[in-house]
Amino acid sequence: MSTPIEATTVKAAAPKGDMISTLANKWKSKPGSLIMALHELQVKVGFVQRESAMRLGHEMGVPLAQIYEVVTFYNYFKTEAPGKYIISVCLGTACHLKGAGGVLASLSAELKVPEGHSTPDKEYHLQAVRCLGCCGLAPCVSVNNKVYAKLKPEDGRHVIECIQIDKPMIDIEQESVTD
Ligand code: FES
Repeated sequence: MSTPIEATTVKAAAPKGDMISTLANKWKSKPGSLIMALHELQVKVGFVQRESAMRLGHEMGVPLAQIYEVVTFYNYFKTEAPGKYIISVCLGTACHLKGAGGVLASLSAELKVPEGHSTPDKEYHLQAVRCLGCCGLAPCVSVNNKVYAKLKPEDGRHVIECIQIDKPMIDIEQESVTD
């Protein structure tokens, strides 16, 4: 069973508003980057919340209506939380090479749902994502924008137990830990 690494290993997470500012600053000067910004927002938060979309649109200079055109056109985007806890298993290259497939399989077995689905009580939603931005800590799983790093394939139960007892997990600040 993996022990969560010390919070001092990574910087504390910025407030949510700052995360959106960071996203907006990263993408606003790149033409046609709205989809990429929304994609990154959903990877980090699990869905595109109305308040977050408004803030992102404001900071990128994009009207909210245009954001919703994109969000509602593509099935990929979720506008409501698919579960209380959104468990995102990174299957990016670094995590894949270090056994992320096994981590996903153990979480799926523990929750009894396949990837991309929520438990019937909507407590947990299990999804695969591509690169959480902390490849040096692979393999990683984020839960509601917090992260468990350096997991072993059999750690699915451990992650769920920590969620259930509300054990603090490492806050992730993408820019601080990106390789
Ligand atoms: S590949 Fe998993 S965090 Fe980058």
